[in-house]
Amino acid sequence: MRIFKEIQSIQNWCKEQKVQGRKIGLVPTMGYLHEGHLELVREARKHCDIVVVSIFVNPTQFGVGEDFEVYPRDFQRDSSLLEREQVDAIFAPTAGEMYLPDFSSWVEVTGEITAKLCGASRPGHFRGVTTVCTKLFNICLPDLAFFGQKDAQQAMVLEKMVRDLNFPLQIIRVPIVREADGLAMSSRNVYLDAEDRKQALVLNQALEQAEKAIRDGERDAGRIKQLLQEIIGSSPRAEIDYAEIYDAYDLADIQQIDRKVLMALAVKFGKTRLIDNRLVEV
Ligand code: PAF
Repeated sequence: MRIFKEIQSIQNWCKEQKVQGRKIGLVPTMGYLHEGHLELVREARKHCDIVVVSIFVNPTQFGVGEDFEVYPRDFQRDSSLLEREQVDAIFAPTAGEMYLPDFSSWVEVTGEITAKLCGASRPGHFRGVTTVCTKLFNICLPDLAFFGQKDAQQAMVLEKMVRDLNFPLQIIRVPIVREADGLAMSSRNVYLDAEDRKQALVLNQALEQAEKAIRDGERDAGRIKQLLQEIIGSSPRAEIDYAEIYDAYDLADIQQIDRKVLMALAVKFGKTRLIDNRLVEV
């Protein structure tokens, strides 16, 4: 497995792979890998000749007062996990390598899709994500790029960016990986103390019950939203940032559940903000 820290060297290496006719799969990550990331890698392995994993805690997608400084990092552990998955290359640049002192070019998807949910709670977050992913796509030249459904809005925004700007690649979404008790895997789960970890199960429970209500015939989006809020509100430690239901394609508001919908949650337990979601098609 090759480990690259410099843009120029991985970009040259990826160009050579393309000249050899190899299909490149990119798995962008911020490291501190868990099974969810490894599923992305396995999916990439299935579809591509070359699998590149980037590990970069991207400062431009964190807001002031968010967890950029304390975001968990463990490069040794990450690289041995990736070695075991037979990854071909890791790209792990420094912030200085990715953002030169005079950096001033941004890629931004505008409209409802970035104005709602995490876009509303974390101003500038998606601009940081779309900018860094544009850079990663230009550097690693992937044919396919793999993202987790756990960050549903991120995947939607990146799909839109790829469509709008004609990037020559395809985004592949990989389903959420959950712990045995239903908690969606996240690098941020390590922040949870034992009690918050237990209380956080309410996220998946709320999504499950809301899905059941839809399957049982409930079509009023307002009532589903209320149900989500009631179930999450039953946890004394949960502080709801959002619990919403929107059109799954573009996050348009809906009154009636008559198409594919995304139920999306962001909830704080102590200082830890967790997200989870579920797609339901009627
Ligand atoms: O999902 C993440 O880990 C990040 O947002 C990403 C896509 C690697 C961009 O920094």
